[in-house]
Amino acid sequence: VLSAVVQKDYTGRRVLVTAGGTREPIDPVRFIGNRSSGKQGVAIAAAAAARGAHVTLIGANLEVPVAASMEVLRVGSAQELAEATLRAAKDADLVIMAAAVADYRPATVVEEKIAKESQGDRLTLELVRNPDILATLGERRADSQVIVGFAAETEPDDERLRERARAKLARKGCDFLVVNRVGWSEGFGTDDNTVAMLDKGGDIVLETSGTKSSVADRILDILQFQNST
Ligand code: CTP
Ligand code: CA
Repeated sequence: VLSAVVQKDYTGRRVLVTAGGTREPIDPVRFIGNRSSGKQGVAIAAAAAARGAHVTLIGANLEVPVAASMEVLRVGSAQELAEATLRAAKDADLVIMAAAVADYRPATVVEEKIAKESQGDRLTLELVRNPDILATLGERRADSQVIVGFAAETEPDDERLRERARAKLARKGCDFLVVNRVGWSEGFGTDDNTVAMLDKGGDIVLETSGTKSSVADRILDILQFQNST
């Protein structure tokens, strides 16, 4: 109701947002993916741009359109996302890691399409760990850079969910973690979202529910008070 006037409170800030879900190739026609549509990340990028920021969006297999108000880099796999993100982060005051990154990828990518005749009734895929982009950003950052992680969790119990979030925040060395609960039907591809945002100390600094666009603005309201000097 009160959003008719957009405040340009992000003018001069350089914001990097990653969004979408990575795809890890198995062979030329198949991949291991996840259900992230990229909607929440794209909404954050759009909101930051509307508030005056210079925005770079790194999109992994986005299922939503992106406005022309930002610079967009498209990637497919976690390794491509890692490369693009670590490069672009050097010029960012604020990094928001909303992308759903595959934890594992096939150990080898088969050059030819896998055919059943070569496999029989069972097929075993060997997977290896992908690099942790967020943890690497945390290690490499300049003092002034603010880094925000996202965690999609399926834990049904509120207290246990918060405990998981606190542990993850400590492990990743980021400044904030935005947590949302996902399930078979919740969270992915929908227009609405419910999130909690925790700071470094594990305190909840925001709990909000609404359209992904309004959730984006509430998250940016909190980050607006983080000085990056
Ligand atoms: N992330 C990342 N690189 C990875 C995996 C995750 O940068 N290889 C980032 C995500 O973009 C997200 C944050 O880390 O911002 C948390 O992701 P999540 O999957 O919840 O964390 P994990 O450490 O992978 O923990 P889990 O074992 O619960 O999946
Ligand atoms: Ca993970």
